[in-house]
Amino acid sequence: MSERTPVIAGNWKMFKTNTEAAAYVAEFLALVADARAVEIILCPPFTCLSAVRRELAGSSVRVAAQNMHFEVEGAYTGEVSAAMLKEIGISDVILGHSERRQYFCENDADLARKVTAAMAAGIRPILCVGESDQEREAGSTNDKLKSQLDGGLAAVTPGQLPDMLIAYEPIWAIGTGKTATPEIAEEAISFIRETLARQFNPEAAARVRILYGGSVSPGNIGELMAAENIDGALVGGASLDVGSFARIVKLG
Ligand code: PGA
Repeated sequence: MSERTPVIAGNWKMFKTNTEAAAYVAEFLALVADARAVEIILCPPFTCLSAVRRELAGSSVRVAAQNMHFEVEGAYTGEVSAAMLKEIGISDVILGHSERRQYFCENDADLARKVTAAMAAGIRPILCVGESDQEREAGSTNDKLKSQLDGGLAAVTPGQLPDMLIAYEPIWAIGTGKTATPEIAEEAISFIRETLARQFNPEAAARVRILYGGSVSPGNIGELMAAENIDGALVGGASLDVGSFARIVKLG
């Protein structure tokens, strides 16, 4: 299904001030000026979203938040809604990153509500799924992926599925320097696509883009992108350095 445009997303996590973000974007735009065949997403912390959006004016680079609440508004101290993100020009939102699941107790039921709320506001969800190393060693990787897809996508229709992104991020590969081999990533991602074909329908599953995330670098992006079902990458650490992220974008 070669009509799936590759996507490279840079998740800055809790890094970069506004000043640092503005300098990054100016340099980044110059470095990726000729990268046309790839969709690029920057995912800064909440405080930098507006500044990054402003610096990117006129470019096709998309901006994602790293989380959001499922309610439109309310007494939820510290939270941000989809409508608030939409108003400042945010196009995408990462949902269910393993760090959110692990440190902030996000579960699949919350995520199903977040996915619905994002789509209702016109923001594209990037739903993250992935197994821990204990789960992989116990042979339960596929069960874990299936339950996260069943739960997180519970309220999504077959028509909506291709309009979102899924990221396969094995927890053991995140921030560890231990990338999944292209074979392991392809095996899990093709399992995700087959699961989606059963959960929705084969056409929707063939169209939805599925990214790999976990210690992606300029050195391994090429072999990952060569795999049939891997449509892009969600990059953490290597996206913080503008030169290294620009190289990943160009190789993607
Ligand atoms: P990493 O993070 O590239 O630093 O492993 C990936 C992610 O958390 O999305």
